[in-house]
Amino acid sequence: MTTATAPHTVQRILVRKAGGFDNLELAADAPKPLAPGEVRIAVEAAGVNYADAMVRRGLYATAKKYVGWPITPGFEVAGRVSELAPGITDLKIGDRVMGLTLFGGYSSEVTTLRAFVFKTPDAWSSPAAAAFPTVYLTAWFALCELAHPRPGATILVHSAAGGVGTALARLGKLMGCTVVGVVGGSHKVAAAKEAGCDHVIDKSSADLWREAERISPRGYDVICDANGVETLGQSYKHLAPVGRLVVYGFSTMIPKTKSGRTNFLKLAWDFLRTPKFAPLDLTNKNRSVMAFNLSDLFTRKDLLEAGMRDLFAWVDAGQIPAAEPKTYPLAKASEAHRAIESGTTTGKLVLLTSP
Ligand SMILES: NC(=O)c1ccc[n+]([C@@H]2O[C@H](COP(=O)([O-])OP(=O)(O)OC[C@H]3O[C@@H](n4cnc5c(N)ncnc54)[C@H](OP(=O)(O)O)[C@@H]3O)[C@@H](O)[C@H]2O)c1
Repeated sequence: MTTATAPHTVQRILVRKAGGFDNLELAADAPKPLAPGEVRIAVEAAGVNYADAMVRRGLYATAKKYVGWPITPGFEVAGRVSELAPGITDLKIGDRVMGLTLFGGYSSEVTTLRAFVFKTPDAWSSPAAAAFPTVYLTAWFALCELAHPRPGATILVHSAAGGVGTALARLGKLMGCTVVGVVGGSHKVAAAKEAGCDHVIDKSSADLWREAERISPRGYDVICDANGVETLGQSYKHLAPVGRLVVYGFSTMIPKTKSGRTNFLKLAWDFLRTPKFAPLDLTNKNRSVMAFNLSDLFTRKDLLEAGMRDLFAWVDAGQIPAAEPKTYPLAKASEAHRAIESGTTTGKLVLLTSP
C-alpha cells in the first residue's frame, strides 16, 4: 500500500564541504521522492558513528564515490514507517522500525530500501534501536564472517569501550571466547567489563603490550584493530600461530583537535608509517591479516540479511541487551562529533529529532 505523505519540511544535517565540526549545518529541505522498493521512515533517532566524522572530513571514500557534496552523514536510524512503495505488504504505516542507509541518516526523515529496514524489538526505545545495526553488523562481520574464533579462543579488542568495541566484546563472549579489552582511559574500564571483557587493559596507565603478554603468553587467536598506525604492528606481532588480525579502521591517524579539521601532513606521514604485510612473512609466521569496509554490505543483501538474522536471534534470546546511548539533539550534531572525536566516549551516541 502506498500512502502519500502530506507536504512537509525535512530537517537534515548538511555538510557542504569537507571540514571541521562547524561544517555540520542544520538545513530545512523538501522530502525526497520515494523510489520503487523503498520505505519512508519518520526518524526519531539517528546513530552517530566515528565513520561519520570521516565523512565530514572528506576522508570517507564511498561517500565521495556515491554522494559527493553536499552530504548528510549517517548510516542508521530508528522511527516509524510513514510511507511504503507499492508492493511492500509486510510493513504498515506506523510500524516501529530501524533502518540502514548509505549516508543521509542525520535527518528527520529517511527513505531506504525495504531490505534495509528491520522491525524494532518491542522492548527497545528508538535511541536503542538506532544504536544497534552499524556497530553490531561491524562486529558480526569481523568475527562471524572473517575471524571465526572457535570457542575457547582468546581475542584482543582495541577500544573495547567504544561503539564497535563493546559489540565485539559482547559477540566474542557469545561465541565462547576469552575477551581481553583495551581502553584508552580509566573511566572506560567499567563499560568494557559491562560489555563482557574478561580482562581490561587501561593503556593510559599500564604498558599495553606487557599486560597483553602477561594475560595470554602464547599470543592471541584474534585481534580486532581499528587504531591503525599506533598499534597495528604490535597487534600483528602478538598473534598466536594461525592467529587473525582484523583491521577495520585507522582512528589514530586523526589527531584529537578542537576544530575537527584534518592535518593532512600527519595523515600522509601516518600513511607512510602504516605497516605493510608481506605474503611470504604471513605464510612463514602462519598469521592472517584481514580487513573490510561495511559500506559494501549495501550491495550484498545476502550478507546483510544473514548478519541481521544472527544478531536478532541473540537479541530475541536476551543475549544482546538494548543499548543506552548518550543522546544529542539533531541540531547539536557538531557536539556529538566533537565528543566521538575526543576519544573519551563510551558506548554509542545518538541524535534525537525531537529532543
Ligand atoms: N570498516 C568498517 O566497516 C567499520 C564500521 C564501523 C566502524 N569502523 C571503525 O571502527 C572504529 C570505532 O568506531 P566507533 O564508531 O565504534 O567509535 P568509538 O570506538 O565509539 O570511538 C572511537 C574510539 O577510538 C579510539 N581512538 C584511538 N585514536 C583515536 C583518535 N585519534 N581520535 C578519536 N578516537 C580514537 C578511542 O578509544 P580508546 O582510546 O579507548 O582506544 C575512541 O573512543 C573507528 O575507527 C571506525 O572508523 C569501521
